[in-house]
Amino acid sequence: MVVDLFLYFTVYSFMGWIMETAFASITQKKFINRGFLIGPFTPIYGFGAIMIIQSSTWIGNMFGNYYISLLMCIVISTLLVTALEFITGYALEKVFNAKWWDYSNNMMNLKGYICLSYSLLWGLLAFLLIQVVHPLITQFIYLIPVSAKRYITALLAVYFLVDTYKSVISTLNLRKAIINHANLSESKYKDIIIKYKRIFLAFPRLLISIESVLSREVRSILNGGINRIKVKIRTDFKFEEEYKDCINDLISHEITRSMKNYKHHGDVNCLEHSLYVSYISYKICKKLGMDYRSAARGGLLHDFYLYDWHIEKPYKGLHGFVHPDIALQNADKFFSLNSIEKDIIKKHMWPLTVKPPRYKESFVVLMIDKYCAFMEIIKFGRRKKVKRLKEIFDI
Ligand SMILES: [Fe+2]
Ligand SMILES: [Fe+2]
Repeated sequence: MVVDLFLYFTVYSFMGWIMETAFASITQKKFINRGFLIGPFTPIYGFGAIMIIQSSTWIGNMFGNYYISLLMCIVISTLLVTALEFITGYALEKVFNAKWWDYSNNMMNLKGYICLSYSLLWGLLAFLLIQVVHPLITQFIYLIPVSAKRYITALLAVYFLVDTYKSVISTLNLRKAIINHANLSESKYKDIIIKYKRIFLAFPRLLISIESVLSREVRSILNGGINRIKVKIRTDFKFEEEYKDCINDLISHEITRSMKNYKHHGDVNCLEHSLYVSYISYKICKKLGMDYRSAARGGLLHDFYLYDWHIEKPYKGLHGFVHPDIALQNADKFFSLNSIEKDIIKKHMWPLTVKPPRYKESFVVLMIDKYCAFMEIIKFGRRKKVKRLKEIFDI
């Protein structure tokens, strides 16, 4: 009998966990392991179900009429489960100084622990349990051999003990950390909050209830994803500002802007291509600790040959071979360049230009040039970034 009750407890704790997790996951639009325990069990449902099953057996024997006994079963089950919910809510608040759920805004509630609508829902679930679910589960459990049941129960008992112990310790540690957060170092506090993130996600009420002791920082740690995005936006903005500073004098010149009149690859014009090459080269050189300023400037002017190679041929020789020299001549005419910038422009078609680049920045730009040309030809991946760069420079 005890073995059967324990198995019922496990099954209904699991069903309760599925209901709670499904509800929380749907409302929060992401998977939420809604439960105090680490495993997929919500014991309050197991206890509630056992109370309903036991009380319905006693009441069934007290009344001769089937309907009266069913009605009495449901009324008493509803009252018992509501009492269980009140006691659990009260006890959790006493232990953790925070409400784990709060019905304060619901009609006819008692201190936020219980309310009429949820009690009616428990009544409906009790009815379904007595009439539909429990008869099926009983048949299923009946099929398991007695020795197997004992073995399973022993294993489950050990599992529940370990999980409960670990979960209680985790939650108490979390509570201690929140209450004493002023005495903890910032990094230790963050570590603890991240470690017990699951508990906050499972019971968002905790965040609201303990607002007074919970610094804003905890929210930001828990919203790590959002923060990372914010940091990325800030970093991108910083990059853009610095990049702007590197090429501002070049890009604001009319002659550089005139590159947009020349078709380059497919529907991409020469200015779009050069900006793309310049910005990526700048970012990579910055990351690698190279001369990113020269990379950005050389990258922007690497195709500064100023004609449409698809229709015009103002110079002798094949475009692929001669345009780096023409670009360098033009660039020299309009701007004052350093030796790295000159090398970048002159060698960007290497190995077509036999002499290899002299500077590592030139290698970066020539590789990025190939990469960007490939992306432009297959029409992939550049749209957003180039669009943003064109906005920045009002092109
Ligand atoms: Fe080129
Ligand atoms: Fe190019």
